[in-house]
Order: sequence, then C-alpha cells, then structure tokens
Amino acid sequence: MAVTKLGAAERALIELARVALTNDADGLHQLCRRFVRRPPTETSAAPEFKAELAAVLAASPKNHTSPLRNDPAQEARPAELVDNEVSWVQYPQLERAPIYSAELADAVASLVNEHETPERLISFGLSPSRAVLFTGPPGVGKTLTASYIASQLKLPLITLNLASLMSSFMGRTGQNLQDIVTKARQQPCVLFLDEFDALAKSRDDNSDVGEVKRLVNVVLQQLDQWPHGSLLIAATNHPKLLDPAVHRRFDITVKFKLPEYDERLSYIRGNQIVRQANMSDEATRMLALISEGWSPAEIQNWINRTARHAIVNSDAKIIDHDSVDMTDALLSSAKAQARLWISSSMERRAELAHIIAVELGWPQRRIGDWLGVSHVTVGKDLNRSSNNQSTRGT
Ligand SMILES: Nc1ncnc2c1ncn2[C@@H]1O[C@H](COP(=O)(O)OP(=O)(O)O)[C@@H](O)[C@H]1O
Ligand SMILES: [Mg+2]
Repeated sequence: MAVTKLGAAERALIELARVALTNDADGLHQLCRRFVRRPPTETSAAPEFKAELAAVLAASPKNHTSPLRNDPAQEARPAELVDNEVSWVQYPQLERAPIYSAELADAVASLVNEHETPERLISFGLSPSRAVLFTGPPGVGKTLTASYIASQLKLPLITLNLASLMSSFMGRTGQNLQDIVTKARQQPCVLFLDEFDALAKSRDDNSDVGEVKRLVNVVLQQLDQWPHGSLLIAATNHPKLLDPAVHRRFDITVKFKLPEYDERLSYIRGNQIVRQANMSDEATRMLALISEGWSPAEIQNWINRTARHAIVNSDAKIIDHDSVDMTDALLSSAKAQARLWISSSMERRAELAHIIAVELGWPQRRIGDWLGVSHVTVGKDLNRSSNNQSTRGT
C-alpha cells in the first residue's frame, strides 16, 4: 500500500489534518507542542522550524474553547507516559455532557456508574465491563464520549489511533503497541483504541499487521488482569469489518446513531454561534428539521462555515459579531438543504411552510421564494397543514 512509503513530513501533515478537521483544538495544541520538541523531519532547518512553530503556538489563544483540557498539574506525567505520533494521553475535563438520545444516555451513564461504584457488582461476583465497542457513523461523538467517560471517572485517557499506528510505524508497530499497553497497565486509565477497523482493513501480507492483530487479541484476553477501574474502549465506523472472534471479546457494544430531531434541536440550541446570533427558537427548530441525516460534527461544521462566510463577506467596517446578522446568514445558507428536504414529500413541504409561516411570520410569497415554489402552492400547503394541525390537536 502506498501509505507505507510516506515520509515523516507527509505523515505529520496527515496527522495535523486529521486533528484539525475534527475540531480538536487541544489535540492540535498537543501535536504542535510535540513537533516543537521533535520536528517531524531531520532537516537542517530544525531550529528555525522549532522557533517558528513555538511562536505560532505562543500566539494562539491559550483558553481555547475545546472541551478537552489537560490538567496542568498532571501534564508533566502523561507526557512521559506515552507521547508519539500515534498515541497520546489526556486528562479530559468536559464541562458539558455530549448530546445523547435517551437510550445512549442510559448506556453511557450505566458504564460510568459501573466503574464509579464497582462494589455492588463485585459483591455479586461480577466486575464492571472491561471492554466496550463503540460503533456508528463518523462525527456522532464516539471519540468525544471516550473523553467524556474518562472525564467522569477522572481517569487519564490514553488514545491509540490504530489507523495511524498501522501506517506510521511499519517495522516498529508491534513494539509500539506493546509499549503503550504495558504503560496503560501500570495505572488505572481509559485506553481508547480509535479507528479500530484499521486492524481488519490492513492486509495481512505485512508481518507487522499480524503482530498488531496478535497483540490486540492478547490485550483483549488479558483485560481482567488490568488495574481495577480501567476500561478499554474501541471505536469503529465499520463494525462489520471486525472479526466475530474480536467482536465477542467486548462486553458491550454501544451503538451511536445519527441524531434524531430532538437531539439535533438540543445540539443546535447549544451551539455558541446560534446563541450569539440570538436566533429565535422557531428558526432553530427549522434548522433542526432540515438537518435530518446530519451528524453533530456536520451540523457544527456547517454552522462554522456559514458564520465564517458571513463574517468575511460582510461590510469590512464591522467590528463586532452583533453587526453580522447570523440568523439571516444561517437561514439563507439553509435554503438549499431545505429545498432538498422538502423534495421528497408534500407533507414535509407543508410542515416546513407551516413552521416558517406561523413561527417566523414570513409572508407566503417570501416562503415560496425561499422554498422554490409558487406562493399559491404555499397557500395550499398552509391550508392543508393547518387542517392537519387541528385534527392532531383534537
Ligand atoms: N453527541 C454529541 N454531542 C455533542 N457534540 C458532538 C456529538 N457528536 C459529535 N459532536 C461534535 O462533533 C465533533 C466530532 O465528534 P467525534 O466524537 O470525533 O465523532 P466520532 O468519533 O464518532 O467520529 C465533537 O468534537 C463534537 O464537537
Ligand atoms: Mg472518532
């Protein structure tokens, strides 16, 4: 595979892109600090590289808003523990719980409870779940939840990215994994194996791959000898790729799904930009309606993109956020999605027209322009949906 031919600089860029694109500000800081300590390539310009990157880091906001923060008191310790391109340690402190469906909230809460109060389980001859598999599409909060659980349990989170492991350390992969596991066993922690399916995807013709598979199996088999309270979490977007034998090693599988309307609504309501925009609840509800099929990460990216666009394209004299009409920007950026959303059924079109008319107070003509239908159609839709509403109400 071409990936194995990547040089250190390319790998560093990929790693940088990966962390940046998941909006993980802390991860990004950590990665940059690592590059300052150890530049990714042996170049004659290493001192200049270090100095420039250190200056960039110094100029970046210290209190970035990422929910992941390292405890400064602990920072010296984890850095020694594991710190290289494929694994890192964090002491996450999440101020807010992620947004979950009731079912998922239950699953996560009971995982945390098991580990917080293992005594009851132990008195029944049981022990807390040791290995948990998170499955679900990208951007639904699997990585975030690993942080959240570590934060709730006040345990260090040791993240090992198997996709980077498989592509970055050919020749030393097995040893690296071994080191991490040895170190993770020395203290209670949450060991997070991210992109777990990379294991299954990798071709067996490389001896390293076989070695990693063997080691991961050993890890899973020996979990009951781990420090009390430790938890292994593996996350995958492609659970079907995993071997049934590997599947069986996990005590629980937690399925993450794309958010339903209510979760999207909570997510959009809690968004900083939406809050700053003082967006009406009705407009927020409309956004939640039309963002069906989007992950929280996609919703967040869309809001950020729209806000960025609105800010840079507005009057250059603008000095504060308030003078950019973010509600308007978000609504007009939602137009294409709204048209797509209503295209599948007349009921949807009527539902959306109803929300806009009743709650945003737009006249029929404006709704028609926005949805790309005539105002007559909107009128009919509104009649139909208000009839429906009154039958529903009785
Ligand atoms: N359930 C959620 N609640 C709140 N924010 C979420 C949720 N899911 C995703 N996000 C946002 O999207 C970002 C990416 O999510 P992530 O946990 O990396 O997804 P995954 O690991 O499932 O691909 C998170 O950092 C967070 O900002
Ligand atoms: Mg993830």
